[in-house]
Amino acid sequence: MSLEPTRIIVRLNLRIWRQADRESAGRLEDYTAADVSPDMSFLEMLDVVNEELVRQGKDVIAFDSDCREGICGMCSLVVNGVAHGPDRGTTVCQLHMRRFKDGETVTIEPWRAKAFPVIKDLVVDRSAFDRLIAAGGYVSVNCGGAQDGNGIPISKDVSDAAMDSAICIGCGACVAACKNASAHLFMSAKISHLALLPQGQPERRRRVVSMIEAADAEGFGSCSNEGECEAVCPKEIPISNIARMTREYLRAVGPWRG
Ligand code: SF4
Ligand code: FES
Repeated sequence: MSLEPTRIIVRLNLRIWRQADRESAGRLEDYTAADVSPDMSFLEMLDVVNEELVRQGKDVIAFDSDCREGICGMCSLVVNGVAHGPDRGTTVCQLHMRRFKDGETVTIEPWRAKAFPVIKDLVVDRSAFDRLIAAGGYVSVNCGGAQDGNGIPISKDVSDAAMDSAICIGCGACVAACKNASAHLFMSAKISHLALLPQGQPERRRRVVSMIEAADAEGFGSCSNEGECEAVCPKEIPISNIARMTREYLRAVGPWRG
């Protein structure tokens, strides 16, 4: 009896968004991904499609990626209408082809939001997120040299909550999934992270006001508490952070500020 694993060949019909540049109109084009192993990642499958396009002398499909390990936040595909695809808590670079059936038709589109214009095909400009962070998502006080680990006591509950927010990878799926194209989950992750820790206190009030004003200026929408952001977030950042951000904002601008 052979112990060789059975090699399953997957053939997919792909409908992929092609757009030459920011100004041009885009359209969905049909491709076939043949000879795809179920053990490939989704991005490796696209690599195979691009290798064939190179062989044919055609323009390759532009898409973003870097780490391909769910860390960097670069990958940004809407697969069959879902940001990062069908697996919960998973970036599209960690989605595997075994999730799809042989012969299935898969539609691949870029993030769609006014604040994330398409640069080419599936690549969007997410520099608006950088500008939100520049508006206040940092600590600017000079802390001097590194302190001892136990120099500033922080309870385990608080440090766990701060780290659960700090895990945001800045991918933008929350914006892409939101009908308002709101950046609230992204902002609230950063604001929660810093509001929970002692190092974030000196700039706490200025930070939340400045980041929310910057989001409005960039064209991100508001939040209507529908939860699509939380559902697609590959790091499963909870929507309760948005409630904390709202409390932080009211504390900063309300009549009870002091
Ligand atoms: S909150 Fe989640 S979906 Fe939004 S940018 Fe951060 S990791 Fe991505
Ligand atoms: S390529 Fe880095 S998170 Fe997907």
